[in-house]
Amino acid sequence: MLNLQYKANRIGIFDSGVGGLSVLREVVALLPRERVCYVADAAHCPYGSRPADEVLRLSLRMVRFLLDKDCKLIVVACNTATAAAINALRKTFPDVPFVGMEPAVKPAAAQSKTCRVGILATAGTLQSRLFNQTKARYAAGVKLHVVAGNGLVELVELGREDSPEALELLRTYLQPMLDGNVDELVLGCTHYPFLQSSIEKIAQGRMSIINPAPAVAVQVKRMLEHSNLLNDEPTSQPFYEFFSTGNVEALMQLQKKHLPLPTERRSFQALTSL
Ligand code: DGL
Repeated sequence: MLNLQYKANRIGIFDSGVGGLSVLREVVALLPRERVCYVADAAHCPYGSRPADEVLRLSLRMVRFLLDKDCKLIVVACNTATAAAINALRKTFPDVPFVGMEPAVKPAAAQSKTCRVGILATAGTLQSRLFNQTKARYAAGVKLHVVAGNGLVELVELGREDSPEALELLRTYLQPMLDGNVDELVLGCTHYPFLQSSIEKIAQGRMSIINPAPAVAVQVKRMLEHSNLLNDEPTSQPFYEFFSTGNVEALMQLQKKHLPLPTERRSFQALTSL
């Protein structure tokens, strides 16, 4: 039985792999009292090259797992899964508040001085109806340079986000944007914020980098407040439970490097039965 009304229940977060940690990082900063259950579907990563109906099936499995863990709100911390599944998830679980990712086309278009915006995302996200609707709604009057960042998710999963390989691959995606006078770059995949320092080396200040994760954390807070589910108990202690359907080590390494958490406040577990 779901007990979604219990304020101390956890926030559930899922992604195909380690990318959702870029969202978790913002959730932890904004909502330090909340307990979180994070699941990485590493056995099926990357999602970006899979057909939408398969991503939907995998997302349903992740959500069922999180609901079994008594989560009160679920963050689909994956642009690809949001595009393929969020509508169906909301229909299937009408009582569950969901927060998804959306490529930040709107703020990028508003901020661009050259009226040229770059979007780096997975092939799955770029082919989706959600992305095309967002583009039609918010990108009027700007030229979009849309690029599928094939291979980047895999490098981040391997912990090679700062490697010469990552820099080289990013250069092939970003140089044409720079040559085309793009001044705003939207990170349309939750793995990509971990590539930020490599991106900055290439961009040399010529493009602003837009990571939608902080806005997603604000939306999580807003929805918890709205449903009266925010854990505002001053003595409450957070705990972060991490699960992976594949290599747990990747999750542990990235967490250590990019989101340090006290050892006694976190646990890691491989999911063999999912
Ligand atoms: N982090 C995902 C996203 O935001 C994952 C991509 C993938 O698994 O291909 O799209």
